[in-house]
Amino acid sequence: MKDFDRVYKHYDNFMKFFSLYKLKEIKKSLNLTGNEVIVDIGGGTGKLGQYLSDSCELIYILDESDKMLSKVKGSEKIIPIVGDALNTDFESNSIDVVILSDVFHHIENQIKLLNEIKRILKNDGKLLIMDFEKNHFKTKLLILFEYFLFRKLYFKTKNEMINILTKNFKVNKVIDKGYYFIIVGENRC
Ligand SMILES: C[S@@+](CC[C@H](N)C(=O)[O-])C[C@H]1O[C@@H](n2cnc3c(N)ncnc32)[C@H](O)[C@@H]1O
Repeated sequence: MKDFDRVYKHYDNFMKFFSLYKLKEIKKSLNLTGNEVIVDIGGGTGKLGQYLSDSCELIYILDESDKMLSKVKGSEKIIPIVGDALNTDFESNSIDVVILSDVFHHIENQIKLLNEIKRILKNDGKLLIMDFEKNHFKTKLLILFEYFLFRKLYFKTKNEMINILTKNFKVNKVIDKGYYFIIVGENRC
């Protein structure tokens, strides 16, 4: 059983109640043209995918939890895929945008994750990361809650995240919202 199989029934209500979805901010940061193929890695119940689907060509919602994916309202533009973020079936150099929204801190092997994202992204493809600032007091509450549920967490500060990313991506945008941040990077050959 995958971690989020245990919480999928209540996940969306929890996220809405605590205003943890950052749909508008993510969409604004992406500046989509409408032609992009997007992979929302760890896309869960597909709320972000649904929100972005009118603004892109196609969005894959990839998640290891088939229970989370069972909540996705699939269509010809929104494709749920059960899979591991570290080892996907996407072809190399095939994806315009990869999104990690509230996902990075759940992945232990973050370098392998970034290598896999780099592999599937086109040369000028974008990576957007939204995550919660490790040292902010609001995040500490979230950490307590998630630790109780999942035990293993790998939160980073915004600056730690920028440092990791700059090894393989050109960081184009950093939006600091206090308890969370959004970083947009571009694949660098
Ligand atoms: C906190 S949820 C975020 C869901 C959604 N992105 C959002 O913004 O609400 C983290 C998601 O990442 C998924 N996940 C964690 N590790 C994964 C992995 N190695 N491969 C694929 N999905 C993973 C979980 O199943 C879960 O649905």
